[in-house]
Amino acid sequence: MSLGSSRVTQALLPLLKKSKHGRIVNMSSGLGSLTRQVDPNSPLTAQNILLAYSSSKAALNMMTVQFAKELKTMGIKVNSANPGFTATDMNQHRGPRTVEQAAATPVRLALLPDDGPTAGVFSDEGAEPW
Ligand SMILES: NC(=O)c1ccc[n+]([C@@H]2O[C@H](COP(=O)([O-])OP(=O)(O)OC[C@H]3O[C@@H](n4cnc5c(N)ncnc54)[C@H](OP(=O)(O)O)[C@@H]3O)[C@@H](O)[C@H]2O)c1
Repeated sequence: MSLGSSRVTQALLPLLKKSKHGRIVNMSSGLGSLTRQVDPNSPLTAQNILLAYSSSKAALNMMTVQFAKELKTMGIKVNSANPGFTATDMNQHRGPRTVEQAAATPVRLALLPDDGPTAGVFSDEGAEPW
């Protein structure tokens, strides 16, 4: 789970460490939020169980935190992005959001200023619960 993201991160670390403003953005999902999955008021609670996908995104969020801690002193910021339910091949284009809308948060996180956050999960609405 999340092995691909971990391997790509490890492979690119030598290059990222050469930058003074390294940024890593992991593509997560609201489905990876433990808080939302058990919140009785969240629509996710009533949604179908997606064992592998949701577990993988929760693991990816933890990977975000672990890499953020390891790389903090090097100025490398590591965050997770939740793009929202977006019309792509993955869901037979059922998502209400456009790819352009979904890309806004990951692009913002990739371009964070040096005083921006690290070790967080974000959507268009700001910081999200783990
Ligand atoms: N769409 C949503 O509603 C939604 C919501 C929350 C989070 N996300 C997340 O957003 C990210 C992008 O999803 P998407 O909706 O754009 O899905 P998508 O349309 O199915 O696109 C997935 C992309 O990943 C590539 N890919 C898959 N397996 C790969 C592998 N083993 N090695 C290299 N590339 C691989 C595919 O390449 P090929 O086309 O060459 O196969 C494709 O370009 C995913 O992490 C997804 O979990 C999506």
